[in-house]
Amino acid sequence: MAESFNVKLEDTRYTPEKSYQENSWLGGYDPAYQRFLNDPEAFWADIAGELEWYRPWERVREWKHPYARWFTGAKCNITHNCLDRHINGIHRNKVALIWRGEEEGDERVLTYRQLSRQVLRFANALKKLGVAKGDAVCIYMPLVPEHVVAILACARIGAVHSIVYGGFGAAALNTRIRDAKAKIVITADVGIRRGKRVALKTIVDEAVVNAPSVDHIIVLRRTKPQLELYSEMELDFYEIMENVEPVCEPEVMDAEDPLFILYTSGTTGTPKGIVHTCGGYMVGTYYTTKYIFDMKEHDVHWCTADPGWITGHSYIVYGPLLAGATVLITETTPDYPDPGIWWRIIEDFGVTIFYTAPTAIRMFMKFGEEWPEKYNLESLRIIGSVGEPLNPEAFEWYYRVIGKSACPILDTWWQTETGMHMITTTVGEPMKPGFAGRPIPGIVADVVDKQGNPVPPKIGGLLVIKEPWPAMLRTVYNNDERYRQYWEKIPPYYTAGDLAVKDEDGYIMVLGRADDIIIVSGHNLGTAEVESALVSHEAVAEAAVIGVPDVVKGQAVKAFVILKIGYQPSEKLKSDLTYHVRMSLGPIAMPAAIEFVPSLPKTRSGKIMRRVLKAQEMGIDPGDISTLEE
Ligand code: WT7
Repeated sequence: MAESFNVKLEDTRYTPEKSYQENSWLGGYDPAYQRFLNDPEAFWADIAGELEWYRPWERVREWKHPYARWFTGAKCNITHNCLDRHINGIHRNKVALIWRGEEEGDERVLTYRQLSRQVLRFANALKKLGVAKGDAVCIYMPLVPEHVVAILACARIGAVHSIVYGGFGAAALNTRIRDAKAKIVITADVGIRRGKRVALKTIVDEAVVNAPSVDHIIVLRRTKPQLELYSEMELDFYEIMENVEPVCEPEVMDAEDPLFILYTSGTTGTPKGIVHTCGGYMVGTYYTTKYIFDMKEHDVHWCTADPGWITGHSYIVYGPLLAGATVLITETTPDYPDPGIWWRIIEDFGVTIFYTAPTAIRMFMKFGEEWPEKYNLESLRIIGSVGEPLNPEAFEWYYRVIGKSACPILDTWWQTETGMHMITTTVGEPMKPGFAGRPIPGIVADVVDKQGNPVPPKIGGLLVIKEPWPAMLRTVYNNDERYRQYWEKIPPYYTAGDLAVKDEDGYIMVLGRADDIIIVSGHNLGTAEVESALVSHEAVAEAAVIGVPDVVKGQAVKAFVILKIGYQPSEKLKSDLTYHVRMSLGPIAMPAAIEFVPSLPKTRSGKIMRRVLKAQEMGIDPGDISTLEE
């Protein structure tokens, strides 16, 4: 088996109390998976039928490799199901959003009805500015309720939102605005981080230079004295909501109309604009929130991600609101003012479902158990993890210290492209540290060799999805060729780009990326984007970056740089380059180490062989994984 490798697996398992499964929406894994296998279309139709549609579908699924269409002919609006559906029922005054800022007492609460009124006004304001169905709107905001309002307002009128994480710098924002041809940029004067103000609007000012598509910048002004708005192009978030109707009929969307674009790192220079649609994405995020997170009426759901990532789209905004949950959002950093803040928030707000990233868990392990022990975490019912492999040590700690050896851990594997959870151990099933689990009912996944043949248990291979699913990406914006590549590497399957291994029970352990992507603290960075930022510095001739293991962040960026003639290596230049990357891409992309080198290993065609650098760095033989590289 040339394309595979042996992996050592331990066999520890933890089984939550029976009542977890007995009381869960999904019930046992095997019968649920069997229901799906018996009739996949009926399975998805049943779930879709729990939501409201303006017109029913003609076909559940149309699949012509590599293109899938879901709920064809159906009409809907996701905000109808996130807002109107609840308001028309008994949930009118149920709390939809709780926001907690950095300062104690910095709190805001919005009921479903209050949230809806804000959304509809803001939607009308956008319309008045000439935003119409299909137009792109870029959102670059801190995690405040207005962020959620902006997202839902776009969806209300059929505008396609493109959210850019507030930690990104001007260059990254500019690329994303230009690629999507955004008409509007919605931002805030500042974000707040560790007691300091981060000037977002200043970054937007820089990012809209040579972005001719932008007609207006809408600014949420949080601080006093108010930031001055200069041109007619700049508008105040609340002023534009003043003289508009509080009623805004939802735009009737085709199930296959685009809902949003979200950029994710690619291996080529520009990031990929992943396109998700109204109907399938709605069904996928609703299903996973209700049946995988097992969302109940009384749950308080806290996902610590940011709406700038897919995790925030699917499990802060759309999924939980579709399921009618109470959603906690916070503009907090895990260790400010002290490393107890998150546990304190769980106690204060009675959080029941907590969803975070392995990098955060590893950071808390370092701070010590005394911090979570100061607080009462008994409200927690289910705890989750996403973004990178949850290593067994982190699993054990999370299970014991946070979950008090009772809460099921959902280690959820999925991607920006998949839109929804794909692999995890469903509530109540035995959990195995290090393993994400099995494909959820509705998903057919496997570990295969390069020819697409399933590899035997304990042998590593490539992770593929064998059948289309409702929340899958439909294309890459402006680059359908790139979309087809996902399905053409090992046809007819979708290749995720991850290496994985199964055990005898079909549990899947995800080992990491097979391609040129580095995951820093759960943030997905393309090597190419970081390299081009480095090369844009006057001193740099060529650069290559790799991910190196980091105890807290999972991976850290290490850069190898060839200097132009006339420049000398120095510590000062290292810090200049680090700063330069920080300014163009944001702090997450900052190299942890820079090494000046006279040359870089390349293929004959001139492609930099990052895995050779990586092998050298880690002192391993570069040959042993070569056949698995994409
Ligand atoms: C990549 C996707 C899905 C939201 C966050 C990241 C890695 C994600 C897990 C997990 C092991 C994981 C994979 C995947 N990943 N979740 N539970 N176990 N690896 O979204 O930026 O699109 O990154 O994150 O490598 O391919 P993304």
